[in-house]
Amino acid sequence: MKNILLIIFVALFSLQAGAAAAAEAYTPKVYGKKGYVWDEMTPERVQVLKMGGDVDRGKDSFRGCRGCHKADAAGVREGVYPRLTGQHASVLIKQITEIRAGIRSNPKMLPFVEDPAIAMEEIGDIAAYLSALTSVRENGKGAENMSARGKKLYNDNKCYTCHGKNGEGNAAKAYPVVAAQHYGYLIREMKLIKHGTRGNSNPGMVKAIAKFTEADYEAVADYLARLPDYRTVVVSK
Ligand code: HEC
Ligand code: HEC
Repeated sequence: MKNILLIIFVALFSLQAGAAAAAEAYTPKVYGKKGYVWDEMTPERVQVLKMGGDVDRGKDSFRGCRGCHKADAAGVREGVYPRLTGQHASVLIKQITEIRAGIRSNPKMLPFVEDPAIAMEEIGDIAAYLSALTSVRENGKGAENMSARGKKLYNDNKCYTCHGKNGEGNAAKAYPVVAAQHYGYLIREMKLIKHGTRGNSNPGMVKAIAKFTEADYEAVADYLARLPDYRTVVVSK
């Protein structure tokens, strides 16, 4: 009897210690705060990348996301909700795990992507599903065509070094596709990234847009929104 009690006591104690260690194991470091490193490989992201993803399972897991991102995952034209279709899986995984970890701020969406709404095992599946989709609905654009000015800004500020000549991003480096995204979303993100409020700003990008005026944001966003969906263009290496 005494032995059994001792075993139960030891078991309970180690459970508690384990939970405490897990809770302490990860503290988010956000842009502008001490210790921030862009593209930190969080423990969860490492695991998700290792597990890979399944398109069919991902379609199923995406159900809880449709209320905002819509059934076709193309978001809304006004840009409150971004299109997720055709985004690189590596980028989707980075964003979802960083939102769950508290690195990228997204309080509206958090209850829908954190446990138990979505389990870690489902993240790779969702990313595989979304990255393989193309959009058929037209994305939101600026009220007038400002793409000539936008293109010049995009090239002069060397945005293409990360996001590519066609706005196709870079899967290996987790740089997002920015072509054919909603105009309103593009503007909002550039500002959130510049001011650090998104949490996961890339310092090189903050530098590139440091001098942007309101008219510059609008022109670049319009240019990017009007670029062909990157999946429909042949990307030159
Ligand atoms: C309550 C509405 C809501 C729900 C439900 C929701 N999202 Fe979102 N999601 C948002 C908003 C708003 C943003 C953009 C936030 C911002 O401006 O930074 C976003 C952004 C994202 C992004 C980042 C896109 C990018 O280009 O960086 C990903 C990835 C994403 N959502 C995936 C999901 C997945 C997967 C689910 C379901 C498990 C989901 N979302 C459910 C509102 C929602
Ligand atoms: C050094 C690389 C780099 C440069 C240069 C850069 N960006 Fe980015 N950009 C990123 C990364 C990385 C993200 C996503 C943030 C993250 O996940 O850490 C991003 C995000 C964005 C987003 C939001 C996309 C989304 O889906 O949420 C827009 C819009 C954008 N960049 C536009 C620009 C423009 C315009 C320029 C040039 C003025 C530029 N970027 C220069 C790396 C860069």
